[in-house]
Amino acid sequence: MELKEEFIEKLKSAKSIVFFTGAGISAESGIPTFRGKDGIWNKLKPEELANFNAFLRNPDMVWEWYQYRRQIIHDTKPNAGHFAMAEFEKYFDDVTVVTQNVDNLHRRAGSSNVFELHGNIERNYCIDCSEPYYIKSDEESLPKCKICGGLIRPDVVWFGEMLPQEAFAKSEKAAADSDICIIAGTSAVVYPAAYIPLTARDAGSYLVEINVAPTEISGLVNYSVRGKSGEVVPAILEAVKEMKK
Ligand code: OAD
Repeated sequence: MELKEEFIEKLKSAKSIVFFTGAGISAESGIPTFRGKDGIWNKLKPEELANFNAFLRNPDMVWEWYQYRRQIIHDTKPNAGHFAMAEFEKYFDDVTVVTQNVDNLHRRAGSSNVFELHGNIERNYCIDCSEPYYIKSDEESLPKCKICGGLIRPDVVWFGEMLPQEAFAKSEKAAADSDICIIAGTSAVVYPAAYIPLTARDAGSYLVEINVAPTEISGLVNYSVRGKSGEVVPAILEAVKEMKK
């Protein structure tokens, strides 16, 4: 794959790289995205599933939906895009993955510096006393807290909820300090997460977008690569290996 010369030059001198990822990076693992063709939000309503009041109204249904998503995630594996991002750590001093995904696939692929802005579907906690809860299986029906009897919810960020503040602050700092910010597989429409690439741009970082389709951010980046992240990220990694020989 032919990459823009200007980007290759940036890669040569870069020390710090931030990846900002979304559902598209996991699409090739078989996990559906939220928007676009076959997107989850085309068929289901976020306000009925990804919302605290919806959970209080119908906890069993919301729990069941998250258990269904967990099953999909557990049946799948990280793909070439996740693995290539993890391998960047061999070639650059400072590599950070800031993800909106809750699927844990970046960690499973070996990335060591991951900030999960929308939580992690593998974790759960009590809505009353915040005690973590470890589920026994993806079939388990809505559990109650062993300490106070409260309802157990997935540790993901629902619409209208705050992002984990420490992860967000560290992501903003990594973005501001980055030489290159690679935005992969996200529609970049959900804020405040979508501020991360804008923070990088305002601080002078070189922005590269990898997406199969144009997005809100395409006009703002230095270089837009149309293609699948599972093909484009490994191609960038190959170019890096070549230049570091
Ligand atoms: P979206 O579903 O909004 O966007 C996925 C993006 O990935 C789209 O721009 C697709 O064109 C692109 N895409 C699909 N397949 C791809 C591939 N193989 N390679 C590269 N790009 C591909 O997902 P997000 O941007 O992650 O939030 O959505 C942001 C947030 O909205 C999610 O974290 C979730 C959702 O509602 C919460 O649940 C709070």
